[in-house]
Amino acid sequence: MAGQTLRIQRVAGALGAEISGVDLSRPLDAATVATIRQAFVEHQVIFFRDQALTPEQQIAFGRQFGPLNIHPYVKGMAGHPEVMEVIKEPSDKVNFGGGWHSDMSFLEKPAIASVLYAVELPDWGGDTLFASQAAAYDALSPGLKQTLDGLNAIHSASREYSPAGHSAQKRSSMNVSEAEGVVGEYIHPVVLTHPETGRKALYVNPAFTMRFEGWKARESKALLDFLFEHCRYEAFTCRFAWRPGSVAMWDNRSVWHFALNDYPGQRRHMRRVTIDPAPVTVASPALSHA
Ligand code: SIN
Repeated sequence: MAGQTLRIQRVAGALGAEISGVDLSRPLDAATVATIRQAFVEHQVIFFRDQALTPEQQIAFGRQFGPLNIHPYVKGMAGHPEVMEVIKEPSDKVNFGGGWHSDMSFLEKPAIASVLYAVELPDWGGDTLFASQAAAYDALSPGLKQTLDGLNAIHSASREYSPAGHSAQKRSSMNVSEAEGVVGEYIHPVVLTHPETGRKALYVNPAFTMRFEGWKARESKALLDFLFEHCRYEAFTCRFAWRPGSVAMWDNRSVWHFALNDYPGQRRHMRRVTIDPAPVTVASPALSHA
C-alpha cells in the first residue's frame, strides 16, 4: 500500500518502539516494508496498535520479512500450520512462554523474528516483557566480553520439550508434543553479531542453552547462571500491555521475552508467526566450456 506515513516512537531506553500510521492487513509497498524492517532491527522489538488481522493477513505480513517457520513441537492452526495459537484457557495453570527466552534457538538455523497478534486478552494482566541482549552485552566488562566472544554454546529442545519441561506440561489449550528420542543439539556463538546492524548481543537462552561447547554442563552452570541473571536486569527491558489488535514483532537474535502469567482464571489468545532466516543462495560456479 503506497502513501502511508509511519510514526515511530521509542518506548524505553534499551529497546522497543511503537509504530503508528500503518495498516498491516493491506499489502505494503517496498518502502514501507523497508522502514518497518529498519525500525525492527534498530529498536529490536516494535509494536503496532489497533490492527485487525486474519491468519492469512498475518502470514502475508510475516512473509515480507522471510520464510515462515513451522514449529516442530507445537501444532499450528488447522489449514495454517505456520500460525501458532498461543492460548491459555481459564482452567490452565501454565502459560506458553512464561519464562525468559528467545524463540527457536534449539534449531540449527534459529528463527530471526516472531510476530505476535493479540486476539483476546484477560481483563487485566497478560503483559509481555522484553529484554535487550545487545544492552546486556554492552554492559559487560571488557574482560568478560573477551572471554564470551570466543565461546560457543550448545542449544537443545530436550529440556523444555521433555515430558517434564515447562512448555510440554499438559494443558487443554495448546497441542504441544514432547521431544522424543534423540533431540538435536546445535552450536551457536555466545555473542552474535547482528548481520544487519553489526551490533553484538548475548545469545544464551535459559530455555534452550545446555552448556558451553567443550565444557561440561556442571562447569558451564555458574557462568550461565550469572548470564541468565545479568541478561534480565530491569534497565535492559521494556513491558508491553496488550490490547486486542496489538502486534509485537521482536528480533530473536537480540531480544529475550517473557509472557507474564498473572491472570488466573481468565482467557488469553494470541497468534504467532515466526520468521526463519532467508535461505542462503549459493551462486552456481561459472560454466566452463571445454
Ligand atoms: C511466546 O513466547 O511466543 C509467547 C509470548 C506471549 O504470549 O506474550
